[in-house]
Amino acid sequence: MAADPGKLEAFVGKMAGDMGAAMSASLVQLGDRLGLYKTMAEAGPSTSSTLAARAGVNERNLREWLSAQAASGYVDYDPATSKFSLNDEQAMVFADEGGPAFMAGGFGLIAAMFIDEPNVAEAFKTGRGLGWHEHSQCLFRGTERFFRPGYNANLVSAWIPALDGVEARLNEGISVADIGCGHGASTVLMAKAYPNSRFVGFDYHAPSLERAREVARDEGVADRVRFETASAKDFPGEGYGLVTIFDALHDMGDPVGAATHIRERLAPDGTFMLVEPNAQDDLSGNLNPVGRMFYSASTMVCTPASMNQEVALALGAQAGEARLKAVADEAGFTHFRRAAETPFNMVLELRP
Ligand SMILES: C[S@@+](CC[C@H](N)C(=O)[O-])C[C@H]1O[C@@H](n2cnc3c(N)ncnc32)[C@H](O)[C@@H]1O
Repeated sequence: MAADPGKLEAFVGKMAGDMGAAMSASLVQLGDRLGLYKTMAEAGPSTSSTLAARAGVNERNLREWLSAQAASGYVDYDPATSKFSLNDEQAMVFADEGGPAFMAGGFGLIAAMFIDEPNVAEAFKTGRGLGWHEHSQCLFRGTERFFRPGYNANLVSAWIPALDGVEARLNEGISVADIGCGHGASTVLMAKAYPNSRFVGFDYHAPSLERAREVARDEGVADRVRFETASAKDFPGEGYGLVTIFDALHDMGDPVGAATHIRERLAPDGTFMLVEPNAQDDLSGNLNPVGRMFYSASTMVCTPASMNQEVALALGAQAGEARLKAVADEAGFTHFRRAAETPFNMVLELRP
């Protein structure tokens, strides 16, 4: 052992920060579950007693939570008045559920990564993977809430307009299939924006579709969107003007089989819109905070999910454009273009 003391101190410091972040993840989940952030956003600067009364929770428990939140920089604390508050940015991230910067909901996904870790460990040994459907309940809602803010912020305003001619056709009225739709966040968003079109969301995980139907009813679009249990390789219907996959192709065991089936089900002038996590083609290009999140989720969820299905290609969440183009080529698509991107997602346009 010839560790450099200065480098060791710096690395231990980084790890102290990382351990604090990992521990505080459960507190974000707790705050979200009990509505504490929303209570704070409504109340403005308040003492722990005032907040406890408003939230209907025990003051001593809440004071400890608030202290941890202040130490995390997730809430502000004024020592002169002993009041806690959310500034505008903190409120957007923790309390604004429909907004573009909301992140608290995604902690349900993180919770599933911890709860299901023993099963992932077993999958490492057997190599048989762990199916999406075999995870804890909190993964499904956590994933819906993790991805929805990005779709809210970009799907209708930027991603669809970036596709060649698709927005006009959606406004005229076409049939659209959203594959691996999960809780239907993307399907319902599109159905709201393009009332002349008809939408069907397919997913192999039937319980997720029950929630999707609920979302469609709540959002008043149940007349133009339906949800059916089907895998990406055998969903019914044909002549679709648009087929979409949002953050799900890499979870599938046979992405080439799925893309081939999609090509066969598209109208001749139809478009396949493939949304995948944004990534460079090589590992070194992904060694950054976004790559860290996606490789982590991919280790615990996406890669085992793919390995649990036929073919078990296991693209991983950071597959990168070159590998996705190889899948598209093998599936017989002749047109492939990166139409849009955000730090989290790339939007690919494919045509038969
Ligand atoms: C990461 S989630 C994304 C869900 C949704 N598209 C979203 O963006 O919120 C992946 C989804 O793919 C679905 N899935 C995985 N393999 C599938 C397959 N072979 N056929 C259809 N759906 C599949 C899972 O059930 C899950 O709902």
